[in-house]
Order: sequence, then C-alpha cells, then structure tokens
Amino acid sequence: MLKVENLEFSYEGSKYVLLKNINFEIAKNELIALIGKSGCGKTTLFKLLLGVLNQSKGKISVFNKIYNDDVNLREVWKRIGYFHQEPLSQIITNSVEDEIRFALENFDFSEDEIKRRIDYVIKIFELEDIKEMVPSILSAGEVTRTILASIFALEPDLFILDEPTSYLDYYWKERFMKLLKEYCSEKKASAIYTTEFIDEVIWADRVFVLHAGKIIDFVKKDFLRDYSPLLNLLDDYSKFTDYIDKKNLPSIERIIEEIIKE
Ligand SMILES: Nc1ncnc2c1ncn2[C@@H]1O[C@H](COP(=O)(O)OP(=O)(O)OP(=O)(O)O)[C@@H](O)[C@H]1O
Ligand SMILES: [Mg+2]
Repeated sequence: MLKVENLEFSYEGSKYVLLKNINFEIAKNELIALIGKSGCGKTTLFKLLLGVLNQSKGKISVFNKIYNDDVNLREVWKRIGYFHQEPLSQIITNSVEDEIRFALENFDFSEDEIKRRIDYVIKIFELEDIKEMVPSILSAGEVTRTILASIFALEPDLFILDEPTSYLDYYWKERFMKLLKEYCSEKKASAIYTTEFIDEVIWADRVFVLHAGKIIDFVKKDFLRDYSPLLNLLDDYSKFTDYIDKKNLPSIERIIEEIIKE
C-alpha cells in the first residue's frame, strides 16, 4: 500500500535535517497513529507521502508506484483521502453539499455516482439538516465533518489524516474513529493519522513515534504496555472517559517523554 525507504528531508535553505533515514511500510487494512511533539515533522512527512514535497533522499511508493517524474499524481490522489491540518481554510464552495460534490467533480465521476456518494456520506456524517448551509456560518466541528465527508465520498484506498479530530466533540471523535476503522476493514483500506489524544491512539494497529527525525514503530499493545486496560475500553467510550478521569491517564507528550528517555 505504502512504502518508505531511507527517506531523508530538509527544507530548502535549511541545514537542519528534519527527517532522517525513515523506513516503514503500511499494509492493506492497517491503521497507523503518527504521534510526536509539535514541530517534529508530522505534517512534512504527510506532504512527502502525498508527493507535494520532494524528498532529499530515499524512495516513496504508494500503491506500488514510485514517486518520480513519471508518476501520474492525479491517478494516485484519486485514491488518497487527505485531511489538511487546518481544515477551516480548506472550504471552497458555498454549501456543505457543494463541498462534497466539488471533491467528486474534480475526479470525473458520473452524475449518478456523485449523487449516490453524496447521499451516502451525508447520511453517515449526519449532515442532512445542514447540507444547504453556507460553511462560513457553521461550527468548526460541522466544517470538519463536511471535509471528512468529502474525503469519504472519494472512497479512498489510503487515508492521510492530519489531526482530523481536533475540532470534533467527544461524540464525533469516537464516531469518526469507528467509521474509519469500519471503512478500512470493509474496503481493505489503510490510514495514517496524527493525533494529540491517547484515546485516539487506541484505534490504531501500530503507533509511529516521530522523534529527532526518526520513527520508532510500535505495535499498539507494546505502546500501551503500561496502560493496557485501555484496550478493553474500545467498545465503550463512556467507560473510557471515566478511566481517564479516575486513573489520571498521562498525555501523549508524557508517554513520548518516557519513550525518549529509554
Ligand atoms: N515551508 C517550510 N519551510 C521551512 N521550514 C518549515 C516549513 N514548513 C515547516 N517547517 C518547519 O519544519 C518543522 C516541522 O514542521 P511540521 O509542520 O512538519 O511539524 P508537525 O510535527 O506537523 O508539527 P505540529 O504538531 O505542530 O503540527 C518545523 O520546525 C517547522 O517550522
Ligand atoms: Mg502538523
């Protein structure tokens, strides 16, 4: 699905090597949580995975196609659902429905297919009541759901999601993670997402910690080794929030600090 080999990256004009010798592979139907301190390079890595930035060294292949001068980026992007870290600046059209339609029209789907997909995502993201509204009057959470709906409407094989839940409330955080997990298992799709919240890491199969330009790759149960009761809580989110309150669960930053020290 996605393969990164010996990736190295520095921004032009900067002597600082932001990403160093990064290697990983993401298989079909795998969910990866990418975490790391602010400024460690998560968004930069995503732009490299999208082919929007070019690596200084190394190789990236998506759907078995290597990013180079010959790759048809449009063909690749048709299969990738990308969520931008600053979603509120991403809205282009004048209604929720048009926003979803715009994403599809960009990729030449037939009108029947467009209608089918719009209906489907409006239903699962519960946008029926606001579908004709102007995005500028919506809440940040509603705008986020609109963008997530337009991403799901593309029926991607790979999701690259940069803090997709930061504007969602508790209900939607959980609902979205569930939708993502279900979609990926049904369609054999994969996802890599960044998050600042431990309660979203538990939905992943593996956890990548990006630190000092390198990735430390964990299977989830190893990452959560000291907090393994969390794994039992996936089916009941209310219990989970209780758990956080009662046990004073550490933040992701604290877990990262512990990992770095080792
Ligand atoms: N266009 C650019 N030119 C030069 N430096 C940049 C550019 N974009 C980002 N950087 C720098 O690269 C580093 C990594 O930025 P990036 O946005 O990838 O981090 P991040 O892990 O996504 O952070 P956050 O968690 O805050 O979103 C930062 O020090 C940032 O200032
Ligand atoms: Mg970022």
